[in-house]
Amino acid sequence: MLDKTKRGWWQSAVFYQIYPKSFQDSDGDGIGDLPGILSRLDYLEKLGVDGIWLSPVYASPQADNGYDISDYRAIWEPFGTMEDMDRLIAEAKKRGISIIMDLVLNHTSDQHRWFREALKGRDNPWHDYYIWRDGVPGTPPNDMRANFGGSAWEWVEELGQYYFHQFAVQQPDLNWANPRLRRELYDMIRFWVSRGVEGFRLDVIDSVGKEPDRQITSRGPRLHEYIRELSREAFKEESLVTVGEAWSADVEEAKQYSDPTGRELSMVFQFEHNFADCPPGGKKWDLAPLSLPKLKSCLARWQTGLFRQGWNSLFWDNHDLPRIVSRWGDEGEYRVRSAKLLAIALYGLQGTPYIFQGEELGMTNIRLPIEAYEDIETRNLYAERVAAGERPEDVLAVIHARSRDNARTPMQWSEEKNAGFTAGIPWFPVNPNYPEINARAALADPDSVFYTYQKLIALRKRFPVFRDGAFTLLDPENEQVFAYLRETGAERLLTVCNFSAAVAAWEMPEGFAGAELLISNCGAPGPGLRPYEAYMLRQELRP
Ligand code: GLC
Repeated sequence: MLDKTKRGWWQSAVFYQIYPKSFQDSDGDGIGDLPGILSRLDYLEKLGVDGIWLSPVYASPQADNGYDISDYRAIWEPFGTMEDMDRLIAEAKKRGISIIMDLVLNHTSDQHRWFREALKGRDNPWHDYYIWRDGVPGTPPNDMRANFGGSAWEWVEELGQYYFHQFAVQQPDLNWANPRLRRELYDMIRFWVSRGVEGFRLDVIDSVGKEPDRQITSRGPRLHEYIRELSREAFKEESLVTVGEAWSADVEEAKQYSDPTGRELSMVFQFEHNFADCPPGGKKWDLAPLSLPKLKSCLARWQTGLFRQGWNSLFWDNHDLPRIVSRWGDEGEYRVRSAKLLAIALYGLQGTPYIFQGEELGMTNIRLPIEAYEDIETRNLYAERVAAGERPEDVLAVIHARSRDNARTPMQWSEEKNAGFTAGIPWFPVNPNYPEINARAALADPDSVFYTYQKLIALRKRFPVFRDGAFTLLDPENEQVFAYLRETGAERLLTVCNFSAAVAAWEMPEGFAGAELLISNCGAPGPGLRPYEAYMLRQELRP
């Protein structure tokens, strides 16, 4: 167990992200819940994780699956009660697992009491908690677009004003320029700290300094001032871990977010490597052929850029992304091997890893007819693109590859009905491949993806080189092989991964003969590399 009283304990930790709606249902309503999570803590303990990042469990109308909060101090009823939450925090702690809550501070639900009050009039004390501009119907203040489609401005007839929403219409943005609002958010955070929560993941925190009149959403001029105040006022305990989701961060900015002096946050959670397979300047809805050199150079830039100057998160999957095996790995013959390769490739890097539920089983994307999609982003995208004249089948093909709903299918626990997720009707389809891919089968097979993750987690705790080692990318232009070194004065770690379904030529760098094989997905390394082969070698250096 990690000693969590130590400053920076989270640098040696591995977190597991739970998307509660899809994790484990306990009462047959088809929706995952807190007692369901409680019943799976032993599984997570076995995997060896140190914390759970819980996607939002707060009261919410669920327009964006809980990222639209209507009461920060209450639990959404289908998930359970505050007692269930307290029990989960306590039971997790007994197993050395911290609960990290998701904090959505950029916006609330339009059903939040503050917004309902705000709608009552311009003089209402809560009106200024949101962002309003005067205007006339049909002519919004500017042409800013919301991330989930349409204008970012919504007209409210009774007030003769528009409000700003960076995401869905049901998610009005909070006005961080208002000090009373900020104070109220800090008090709410203290409420959760007092219940035993040990950290927070800060949803789109790069947006809180927005200035819509200047068309600035992320990286506004007061952003870091706000984050420092938040950190000072709400995250007083050094042991709290704070993770800033920042889609807009580049390496230089990430140093500010995760400045080792701790005046902002513990670490940054950024996505640049997830766009390495998009066309230049492209967004996630544009497909391009995979380029390993591009992925490597991105990862390498972050590794060297933040070394001793900041701290990064390491992840492939999360609830906003399609499944990594379906993207960089192989869904067919090499599914298991490529899922292990992806884990090995990532876990040799510096940073704090996050496993998204089911990634440790090698879960894959799902392909559904358009009516079956639940995600507001996916549905709006389809409607918008088809209305703009794109062929429905082309839009659907992109959705199959990229929709966030790929990650949101229920967790596959067993070969039983609905993959053991629910005794009722699941809120979202179970991937039909569950009889083959499920936790029960993985636990029974010593050669499963699960045990690769388990072993990597243990290795990261055992050898300081994982946390501290300096990074060097080997053979940057190699289109098949991702290989890199990590070095401290005392140890060297070599990670080698063949990211292709073909055999790859590879020569072992000098000095690794006789090195200790820490982990591999194809047995002992030979000359060259087999399809999707991956391994790590470690060597102690003598002074
Ligand atoms: C974040 C969340 C995403 C959500 C959005 C709006 O990016 O991860 O799921 O839709 O913010 O809250």
